Amino acid sequence: MDVAAIRREFPILRERIPGRDGKDHALRFFDHAASTHAPEPVVRALVDFLTTSYANVHRGAHHLSERATDRFEHARERVKSFVGAPSDREAVFVMNTTQALSLASHVACSLHDGPVLSTRLEHHSNLLPHASHGSRGEVQFSEASPWYGRVEMIRVTEEGRIDLERLEERLRQRPKPRLLALSCASNVTGVKTPIKEVLEHAQDARVPVLLDGAQILAHEKLDFSRLPGGGPDYFAAAGHKAYAPLGSAALVAKRSLLDQAPPWMPGGGTVKLVLDEEILWADSPDRHEGGTPNVPGAVAFAAALDFLERVGMEEAERREMRLFAKLLRGLSEIPEVRMLGPHTAKERVGVVSFSLGRWSPAAMATALNAEHGVAVRHGCFCAHPYLMELLGVHAGPFIEEIRRGGSTSAPGVPGAVRASLGVYNDDADVEALLDAVRALAARKPDSGYAWKGDQETWVPIPAQA
Ligand SMILES: Cc1ncc(COP(=O)(O)O)c(C=O)c1O
Repeated sequence: MDVAAIRREFPILRERIPGRDGKDHALRFFDHAASTHAPEPVVRALVDFLTTSYANVHRGAHHLSERATDRFEHARERVKSFVGAPSDREAVFVMNTTQALSLASHVACSLHDGPVLSTRLEHHSNLLPHASHGSRGEVQFSEASPWYGRVEMIRVTEEGRIDLERLEERLRQRPKPRLLALSCASNVTGVKTPIKEVLEHAQDARVPVLLDGAQILAHEKLDFSRLPGGGPDYFAAAGHKAYAPLGSAALVAKRSLLDQAPPWMPGGGTVKLVLDEEILWADSPDRHEGGTPNVPGAVAFAAALDFLERVGMEEAERREMRLFAKLLRGLSEIPEVRMLGPHTAKERVGVVSFSLGRWSPAAMATALNAEHGVAVRHGCFCAHPYLMELLGVHAGPFIEEIRRGGSTSAPGVPGAVRASLGVYNDDADVEALLDAVRALAARKPDSGYAWKGDQETWVPIPAQA
């Protein structure tokens, strides 16, 4: 499918963004790394489920409950088939990537001992769950050591990539990690992990692997069946970053591991039998799906994966890389721009974070939206250790300010702006973003906006009459 045809499938692109000058702008959306929009087929699948099949699953013999169950289980198979998971893997539906990572951490930490090996490049959702499980509650932070509780972070290179040599070396050392948890692609710089190589080394060392697939699912076709050992032991990803609505995600993991661990969220649906003297837990996936699941979300997730396959993942990846190279080239030609991480598109997905002279990231994001209809994200992107490393700053001076209740969007707080590409972005989008950044670069930093501490936001300063 060409990009014009893809764009016609997204109702959100008909929206106009009100500008501060009273004019409307076309939507230039570069926040796909946070959440993506639903195309028509996904909206239709959702509406169809709500209007023809809506009922709770598993616990009813009536027609609608059976229909809902069929569609829910079909969605489960679809998630597994999309990633080429072998038959010994199960998919557990959860709400978001954070829950999928937390479930994997719960299973791994219930079954094995030792530290969790992770990297400095991770999203907090792939650090904090392990820190809490590993330390049985008390999460320790020490600036002097690379340990958070019991999570060991492998350093990154100057370019912001995982130091693979150090990772391989650590995998051979003692104490043996209970889990290697790392992302397929960074949500800050888009740098990709060489999954095949990492899996080979981890499998040699007999360390189970959890891959955080949040930033890869919609960007590159992962095929477990082509990966060493039939793929990772655990793989976490969310539908809301792959053209499904918010609230749908899955952990695809080895059934044998899921079934050995106690239920992650014990409750309705997780048992076969509850007696006074004994509880017989259900096998996975039910074992870890406590309570009523987000059935419409799972159905829409499956429809989104169908959509991605119809669009053609390889073609979409090629288009994304071409646009990404254009975006990086354009940004590198603006002298005030400082890009974080590598400066080329090689071994990355379409995500770039950057700063612009002395512009506060939050003021810049506000101006891009209000003056150009450009949607970007700003801040530290839930990856504080990585961002501080890339920016070359120490969080020390800001800790006290934040402790006192200061805002992370305030002037002077370190951060960046992030632009992330999605399947419908085109040349006009990229050109609009570059024009907008150039226009801001030509102005005094933060000009036209004032920081409102009480509202924790930047507001436009009305033009003088
Ligand atoms: C790499 C990565 N991991 C985990 C998460 C957390 O995802 P969720 O918001 O689905 O919990 C994100 C969110 O941006 C992410 O980019």
